[in-house]
Amino acid sequence: MGMNDSPFLKACRGESVDRIPVWILRQAGRFLPQYREVRSRFPDFLEFVRNPQACAEVTCQPPALLGVDAAILFSDILTVLPPLGFDLAFREGEGPRISNPLRSGDGRNLTAFDPVQELSYVMDAVRACRQALPADLPLIGFAGAPWTVACYAVDGGGSKEFSRTRAWLYSDPTGFAKVLATLADTTADYLAAQAEAGCQVLQVFESWGGLLSPTDYRRMVIPAMERLLSRLREKTDLPVIVYCNGASTLMRELLVLDCQVLAFDWRIEMEDARAIAGSRPLQGNFDPCLLHASPDDIGRRVREVATQSVGGAWIANLGHGIQPDAPVAGLKALIDAVHEIDPRTLA
Ligand code: CP3
Repeated sequence: MGMNDSPFLKACRGESVDRIPVWILRQAGRFLPQYREVRSRFPDFLEFVRNPQACAEVTCQPPALLGVDAAILFSDILTVLPPLGFDLAFREGEGPRISNPLRSGDGRNLTAFDPVQELSYVMDAVRACRQALPADLPLIGFAGAPWTVACYAVDGGGSKEFSRTRAWLYSDPTGFAKVLATLADTTADYLAAQAEAGCQVLQVFESWGGLLSPTDYRRMVIPAMERLLSRLREKTDLPVIVYCNGASTLMRELLVLDCQVLAFDWRIEMEDARAIAGSRPLQGNFDPCLLHASPDDIGRRVREVATQSVGGAWIANLGHGIQPDAPVAGLKALIDAVHEIDPRTLA
């Protein structure tokens, strides 16, 4: 079986599979003791991300330890901020901090950069991962969506509401749209560079999409997403997954996007997502906290969602990143339950 016949790539293309593919959002993370061991060698998170060998080491852990059907590059959606001109730091227990956030203008003062040059450490990490991974295991490259990256660049760090960013969207929609367009171009080039370096699938993380009303998302953000995807299409034909946290309210807006797979959080029933998306490949959408349930309950839930996904390809995943306190046994139960399903019995 070659790479192209892997269940994950087949599902991304909307083809039927013998085995349902599963991978886990943030699968290389602190819930794994083996990740924490590598992480402990780096006082600074950004130093870790800038070390291709260390990135390859933790990228390979989830496929080897958990049996997931894809690897996701170990990196971060905020890697684009320093070359754009932002001063980014990760402080222990505090998450990301940007000391010079962007609060006005039209993005003209953002530095245009070539990701192959300025983010060469990411491309080196892709090549190191590709070398270290089994030859038939797909590697996912990724980037943050323009709106989600703007949330950090404008608010200056993590937030529950990102109200400064949302305020700018209303106070100067024209200027803010230009910022999103600039981020869209940067992100397309960054993803194309990861494709060129050796990834098989690309995922765009719209982690804060759900903060906006459907109308604002449609008017302000969809044009930037379309710009990103069409620029990317000119450079690569790899499958693209758009993940949107908050898709329960935005599913209809997202349908217009020219991407192969739609991924979303657990607040929408798989059945409803399937009804809206038709036969489009879908990815998700278990509550990360489900992993604390008993193995039997996890198995039951997996079969429920699998049944609801019928009508198109399904890639099993969580609806948001796995949490540091997630029990590895619960995760193994979920992955095994997915793999135990015979897809032919679902239809
Ligand atoms: O999925 C994977 O295993 C690949 C690696 C990955 C990381 N971040 C590593 C990371 C991916 C895909 C991301 C994406 C990312 N980064 C998102 C979108 C996904 C989502 O969860 O919605 C966002 C919003 C970020 C920004 C970010 N990076 C924050 C807010 C934080 C701090 C939060 C925290 O848990 O401390 C990070 C740091 C970060 N990125 C960690 C990891 C494993 C934890 C840092 C550590 O190990 O000390």
